[in-house]
Parts: sequence; structure tokens; C-alpha cells
Amino acid sequence: MAVIQITSDDTWQIQADGHPLQGTLQVPGDKSISHRALMLGAMAEGTTHIEGLLVGEDTCSTAACFRALGAEISDLNATAVTVQGLGIGHLQEPADVLNAGNSGTTMRLLLGVLAAQTGRFFTITGDASLRSRPMARVVTPLLQMGAQIWGRQHHSRAPLAVLGQPLEPITYYSPIASAQVKSALLLAALHTEGTTIIREPHRSRDHSERMLQAFGACLSVDEATCTVSLEGPAVLKGQKVIVPGDISSAAFWLVAASITPDSDLVLTNVGVNPTRTGILDVLWAMGAEITLQNERLVTGEPVADLRVRSARLKGTRIGGELIPRLIDEIPILAVAAAFAEGITEIRDAAELRVKESDRLKAVATELQKMGAKVTELSDGLDIQGGVPLQGTHVETYGDHRMAMSLAIAALNATGTSHIHNASAAAVSYPEFVTTLQQIA
Ligand code: S3P
Repeated sequence: MAVIQITSDDTWQIQADGHPLQGTLQVPGDKSISHRALMLGAMAEGTTHIEGLLVGEDTCSTAACFRALGAEISDLNATAVTVQGLGIGHLQEPADVLNAGNSGTTMRLLLGVLAAQTGRFFTITGDASLRSRPMARVVTPLLQMGAQIWGRQHHSRAPLAVLGQPLEPITYYSPIASAQVKSALLLAALHTEGTTIIREPHRSRDHSERMLQAFGACLSVDEATCTVSLEGPAVLKGQKVIVPGDISSAAFWLVAASITPDSDLVLTNVGVNPTRTGILDVLWAMGAEITLQNERLVTGEPVADLRVRSARLKGTRIGGELIPRLIDEIPILAVAAAFAEGITEIRDAAELRVKESDRLKAVATELQKMGAKVTELSDGLDIQGGVPLQGTHVETYGDHRMAMSLAIAALNATGTSHIHNASAAAVSYPEFVTTLQQIA
């Protein structure tokens, strides 16, 4: 077995021995769906029951914000979580600043909701990473709807202040494919009289559309033109939501088992919504042995068990409309590419510079420290695979996906890796390192 220690200075020390990854794993609940279940539950009439909710730092931030806004949300650690909704437009003015922590989804979606709470005043902030991330992408269209929002750098950086207003529907052509932008506008549109239309350059994840329809909103999707229309005002009714496992968390194991010889791992109950399965398409193109078993639909979301066996990977090219379908998986795909034969080219991914860290820079810098041949480009990476990696001291930049990606690289490196600021992983996958200790 690999020797994996968690030191008192928040470092994972990993010394691998090539032990194959075998057995069956259940990854935690989907982060995007968990945020939305809490939010729609809080805005619906009646009670929402949620099973399989992700209890990570990000979803705890969403729950804390909505509790401060008056929704009753039961203990998140229980098997089933209940949310007593307040109804559309009835969130209360909180007595203090709302804190979205590290969570871009919490802040951006919440801005759409808060902007429509007529006559109530809100302030929202986040951690240092979130305060540096661009908010104009949601503030600009919300201002077009009549919102009043103030903040630093021309209202584009948190902390932000919002005075709720009656909003007007708009037709918005988003310059970026972003589910956070689309969802913020859809949540605002729930409160308006008329049709809001949002069009994206490529399709982003559609969990909001699916869940809004399930809660009773009048919404239609034109997949061919990447357009969503919502007819407001909406009345949402509390629902039962069963959250599938997060394919973005499964991605670490898909790559780990692919690159660790003799592995054979089954990941049960993973969400395989086609707007999220770019990781599978790319790993298949690289030669991975992944099969979908027991495919089913669970509360409107496609779900399957994924079996992955080790395989010889080869380099590939990733870009264009694939990018939104694997936007959070590029750090771990870069690790897969480092162990693949040949060159992998990642393009059209400049968005990665404004995630929880500048992921293009972070991935290139940290994998280079381990000996990988990675070239950082303005909108992507070139990775020359097949160069053996050596363990060394690496940094997560406080980014959960960097922590887990580096751990998987360390599992196939020689010597000892020291991954600093590793507890960042708790943002989306608090049990990751314990699971790694059990199976690696
Ligand atoms: C998310 C959308 C994506 C993704 C993020 C979660 C969501 O961001 O990167 O981790 O839940 O809507 P963008 O919408 O900015 O692409």
C-alpha cells in the first residue's frame, strides 16, 4: 500500500508503491446539483427533501446564506435534508453580511436571487480567492434587468451590495458558456413578468433547467441554438431531489485507475448528464477502459455506475465546445496527459484562469516541479506525456481540484510528494484523502 500521511501543517505526504486501485467506491453528491437543490428548496412553497446532498465547504456556504435569508434547512449531515421554502420573492433581509466562502456558484447564483427581492438590502462577500474572481459576467446582465448592485472595480468584484428591485425580463446573448451566468439570470427571471431568453455560445451544464422544470417553472430549451427561455413569474413547489454522485469527483478516480497498472474500480451512482461527460469522451479518445453500467434516470438526471480498468493512454486534443463539458476536469486531465504517450493539446480554456486558482498556471507550474513537460499557453496547455514524475513539494493554491489532481500524480510518481494546503479538497470532497488511504 502507498504511505499517505496528513501532517499538522496541512500537507499530504504521499509515497506510492504502484498498488493497484480496486474495489467499489461511492463519490460524494454532485456539487452543482446540491447547490441548486438547496436554493430552489428555499425559494419553493412547501418542503423539499434532499438525499445524497454534498456536505462540502461550498454547499455549507450556500446553506448558511439561505438560512441567513430565512429558509429553514435541517442538519446537512443527516441522510435526508429538508428545506422549508419561503416562496418566490420572500427571502428576508439578513442582519449581517452573507458569506459565500470559496464558492463561485453560491455567489453568482445568489446575486440573481437577491437582485429580485424588492426593497431588501444585502451584502455578500467571500474568501480572498472569490473576492478576486470576476462578477461582472452576472452583474452586467442583471443591471440590464434593472438590478441595483454596487461593488469594487466597477461593480465587478465582491464584496457586493444589492438593493432588491422589481426586475424586467431580457434577451441576453452571453459571451461565455457559463452555467453560473445562465442560472443567475434564470433565478432572477423567476421573479419577473414575461419571458427571459438566454443564449450561450456553447451548451453549459443544464442542471438548473432540469431542476427548475421539476419544481414547476415554465421553461423551454432549444438545444440546437443553446437557448433557454423562462416565463415568469414562477411558483415553485417543494420536491424530492436525489443527488447523484459528482462526475467531477469521480474524475480523480477515473484517471487514477486508468494510469495505475492492474486497477479495476467501480464508481457507483455517478451523474452522467451529457453536459458533464466531456471527461468520459476525452478519456475514451485517449484509450481509457471505462464502461457505463446500470444506466438510469434519477429525479430527472441520468445516472450510471462507471467501471474503469487501467489502460495505456495516448495524447489527444481538447478544445471548442468540449471545454464547458469538462471545465472542472482539466487539472486531472492534465495529469492523465502527463502519463499518456505523446502530446496532449488543451485549447480554448482561458476560463481556467479565473477559477478557484489560475488553473493553467497552477497545473503547469506544479506538474513541472514533478518533472512533467508542460507548456503554459494563454488559453491552454501542451503536455508531452510519458516523462516519469518524481515526488517533490507542490502547492495547491488553496484550490480543491489542484489538491486532488496532485495527489493522483503523486500516486504514480517515484519518491515522496508533499502537497501543501491540501485541506482545500474539503470544498468539494472532504473524504477524498481518507478514501485514498483506504484504496491506494
Ligand atoms: C458551475 C458551473 C461552472 C463550474 C463550476 C460549477 C455550476 O462554472 O466551473 O465549478 O454549478 O453552475 P461556470 O459557469 O463559470 O463555467
